[in-house]
Amino acid sequence: LTVAVLISGTGSNLRALLDAASAPDFPARVVVVGADREADGLAHAEEFGIPSFTVPFTRFASREEWGEELAAQLRIWQPDLVVLSGLMRLLPSALVDAWAPHLINTHPAYLPEFPGAHGVRDALAAGATESGASVIVVDNGVDSGPILAQERVPVLGGDTEHTLHERIKPVERRLLIDVVRRIATGELDLAAAAAS
Ligand code: GRF
Repeated sequence: LTVAVLISGTGSNLRALLDAASAPDFPARVVVVGADREADGLAHAEEFGIPSFTVPFTRFASREEWGEELAAQLRIWQPDLVVLSGLMRLLPSALVDAWAPHLINTHPAYLPEFPGAHGVRDALAAGATESGASVIVVDNGVDSGPILAQERVPVLGGDTEHTLHERIKPVERRLLIDVVRRIATGELDLAAAAAS
């Protein structure tokens, strides 16, 4: 299975996927990494000798035009699966419609709890005693697609957004790697999951 990973940030989840995919028996490989900005995480692609591209959101007059360029890049690489891993942008519906259900996202909360760009902060603000990590199929909503995997993560007294996020990320990475593996082996049927 060939995978494109889209990021905006440090790419720690990308790094975990690259490490997992470097195992000879892992059934998927990352063929390209894309970013909507000069993301630090692009360094991981460079380290692994994987091509990358940047489509800077700020250079485009609209989300749709940005999405069109992003879609053009993805068409070059023709991945079987697109993984959003820390992409902090909503995709235009044209791109979601073109790629779904072969388009998954990781989110640092137990969806449908705390969707959106600040799931960790929102969980803390709500005084939640537990949050979680989720992997979903991307749809045209905000973190509202079918859930492929999720797991609870405890919130501890004194947690900050950083400490809670750092506790969630390892779970998020493990879930993402397992979901990619199950998609690659055919154990997880995305079309069926998306239709459910
Ligand atoms: C991850 O928790 C991701 O789910 C969220 O932002 C974080 C990105 O972290 N959207 P990184 O860039 O993978 O380190």
